[in-house]
Formats: sequence, C-alpha cells, structure tokens
Amino acid sequence: MFIAVEGIDGSGKTTVIAEVAKALPRVYVTREPSGGPIGRLLKEWALRGGTADPHVDALLFAADRVEHYKREIEPKLREGYIVITERYVESSIAYQGAAGVPIEYILYINSVVPRPHLTIILDVDPAEAVKRIKARGSLEKFEDVEFLRRVREIYLARARAEGYPVIDAGRPAGEVAKDVVAIIERAMASLRR
Ligand code: TYD
Repeated sequence: MFIAVEGIDGSGKTTVIAEVAKALPRVYVTREPSGGPIGRLLKEWALRGGTADPHVDALLFAADRVEHYKREIEPKLREGYIVITERYVESSIAYQGAAGVPIEYILYINSVVPRPHLTIILDVDPAEAVKRIKARGSLEKFEDVEFLRRVREIYLARARAEGYPVIDAGRPAGEVAKDVVAIIERAMASLRR
C-alpha cells in the first residue's frame, strides 16, 4: 500500500509519520524532496531561492518525484512494504499552484507517476505552523504565513474535490497519529475486500 501524508510546513508531518510507523507493521518511510540528485539540487539550490520562475520549481519537483518513485518507492512496494511518503504530488499542486503555476500544468508533468492509494492531509492554522517552525529554527522559502494560507486553501479544496481525509493537526502529535493509523487500517481493510 502506498500512502502520501501532506500538509503545510509546520503541520507536524515528520513527527506524526514516525509515530504511525511505530504502530503499523512493515512500514517504509520516505520523503520529498528525495535524497537523490534532483532532491539535493532542490534543497541546495531551488529552495534557497535559486529559481526565478515557479515553473522551474514545478519541473524539478516533478523530475525528483519520477526518479524517487522508480528508485525507491516502487521497489519497496514490490517488497511488500507499506510505503509512506512525506509529501508527493499534492505538495506540488498546493505550493507551486499557490506560486502561480496552473494546476493543469502541474497535473500533466506529474502524470508519469502513479497516484497513492491514500492521501492524508494534516491541517493546521498557518499562524500556528509558523510559530512551530520559528521555535525550531529560521524560516525558509515558502515558510511565510500569507503564502502558507494560500497553500492550505489549495490543499483543502483538493481534499474536498478528491475525497482526501483531512486531520486536525493543531492537536498533540500522538492524537493526530492515532487518527492517521485508524484511517490507514480502514483503507487496508477495504483494499483487501
Ligand atoms: P520540507 O518537507 O519542509 O523539507 P524539510 O523539512 O527538509 O525542510 O520540504 C521543503 C519545501 O519544499 C517545503 O516548503 C515544501 C516545498 N515543496 C514544494 O514546494 N513542492 C513540492 O512538490 C514538494 C515535494 C515540496
């Protein structure tokens, strides 16, 4: 089973996914930007303000994703793992969409990779999210309340349109993780049926 956990910066994805991985058998956790060469280019250059046009970001995130899927996700799924990725296509739709890239363009360049069986949105108020990010360090590209408000609106609109579960992530990580585990278990049961 292939699962994507999504949400704005500061929504607690990393912590929640670590908790979820402890509660379920045979989980493989991964993330985007990936640890591969295009992921590194994103982290070292694009996310440090290197790109002058959000279409370039969209293309790099999509390229990283295709490479990440083939190199890491697909093999782990074949080995029978539940693969949980922190961020996937919906991150590109929400972030590069908020930066002005048309959604049809983002969908097209991401149509090379399969959709996850399940996409879960961790939802938190952007003001609270920025408070959390500041508490652990300095703010990076995209980590601005006004921008994150637009990102959140796109996530929520996509969740309504696509039927993605939205979890209130303003609560302690343990409670959020419990809800996520319950959703995954239900989805696994319906996949087996
Ligand atoms: P993030 O998950 O915050 O990585 P880290 O915790 O290592 O800093 O991801 C980095 C940023 O990249 C984050 O602000 C969201 C952004 N991003 C996009 O804009 N589009 C995408 O497709 C992905 C995967 C991430």
